Amino acid sequence: GTPDQWVPRDPRMVRLTGKHPFNAEAKLNDLYSQGFFTSTNLFFVRNHGAVPKVDAQMARDWKVEISGNFVRLCDNPVTFTIDDFRKSFEVVTVPITLVCAGNRRKEQNVVQKSLGFSWGAAGISTALFTGVRLADVLDFIRPKRGAKHVVFEGGDSLPNGPYGTSQLASWARNPRHGMILAWGMNGLPLEPDHGFPIRLVVPGQIGGRSVKWLKKIELSAIESQHHLHFHDNKVLPMPVGPDQARAEKSWWYDPRYIIRDLNVNSAVACPDHDEILKGNVEDMYTLRGYAYGGGGRRITRVEISLDEGTTWELAEIQYPEDQFREFAFDDAIYGKVDLTDNDQCFCWSFWSFQVTVERLGESPAIVVRAMDESLALQPRDMYWNATGMMNNWWFRVCIHHLD
Ligand code: MTE
Repeated sequence: GTPDQWVPRDPRMVRLTGKHPFNAEAKLNDLYSQGFFTSTNLFFVRNHGAVPKVDAQMARDWKVEISGNFVRLCDNPVTFTIDDFRKSFEVVTVPITLVCAGNRRKEQNVVQKSLGFSWGAAGISTALFTGVRLADVLDFIRPKRGAKHVVFEGGDSLPNGPYGTSQLASWARNPRHGMILAWGMNGLPLEPDHGFPIRLVVPGQIGGRSVKWLKKIELSAIESQHHLHFHDNKVLPMPVGPDQARAEKSWWYDPRYIIRDLNVNSAVACPDHDEILKGNVEDMYTLRGYAYGGGGRRITRVEISLDEGTTWELAEIQYPEDQFREFAFDDAIYGKVDLTDNDQCFCWSFWSFQVTVERLGESPAIVVRAMDESLALQPRDMYWNATGMMNNWWFRVCIHHLD
């Protein structure tokens, strides 16, 4: 058997790697038709190794060690169970979209094989995460000068040591950035695949920063030295090929190439690739899809081209996150529902565009691109890179028509 055969999984999830570890996404149609929130069983999964087997008793006893390394970089180190977190800090619930840095890598792998496996465009999902604010926890342990980074480590054991990554402390300590230590997902305890019993959730950054099965938080003078933080999760310059990239400790593992924020991106969910277009020429067809920005930035426009990018038309944008305050929630389960009085966008948005079947039938492809509030625009050309990350060139769908 595989190491985590005991984990229940939805048969609709499409496996992207062999039997183990489990890496999977839903079909884009299935994901999109779920709407704003993704049910946990269709939420994408990215595991680098076996899922730690944790039962209810172990979950109650699970400890997160929070301290400073080497020199004392904090005045008040603590070791907390989930119950300790719950009792010591305000419990909040935040809707957050996670996106794998490899989302849309399949298109890159078609151009030239990268080091990573082929995600479609469904390496993205949204859930309500419940827990405590990382900023509150960091305040509590009283960081000292020199604590420039916060390093996080998970409880899964991987060939090159535990999974870990880090954040700049100045960023992590700002509650506006919305990082939480979460034990709840969509109103229930986390599922094993998503980090049971506790994980970090980092809005607006690549999914790789959201450490699952969290065991350790450490203030440090230097960034994480964990294997995947150092050797992966980077967009290397285009001239660095996969073989070079595989070589360890080379000059190109430069902190400048690290990825933090997600980049602006969008995709067409309806129609599907190769869908056969039906209907009368005068019928209206609604094109639909998603768009997101990184770092809390809002999508300010989504544009559609039906002539390979010569001309563009504006699509409608819906931001369900904006209506979030009006939803009714049970405080006993969710704690305070928190948009952290937020001007930040932590979730995906949806776009739609109406067009006649006739026009669709005449167009060679449906092309979409989005822009965020920093005026970053999805590029026409792919930025191919050895790790196959952050692919955000114009998204294109070709359909067939019945004459
Ligand atoms: N945390 C641990 N401990 N081990 C992992 O393999 N994978 C990371 C991140 N956290 C990982 C981890 C990556 S690359 C991503 S994209 C997200 O978890 C995926 O979270 P999900 O599986 O809940 O969707």
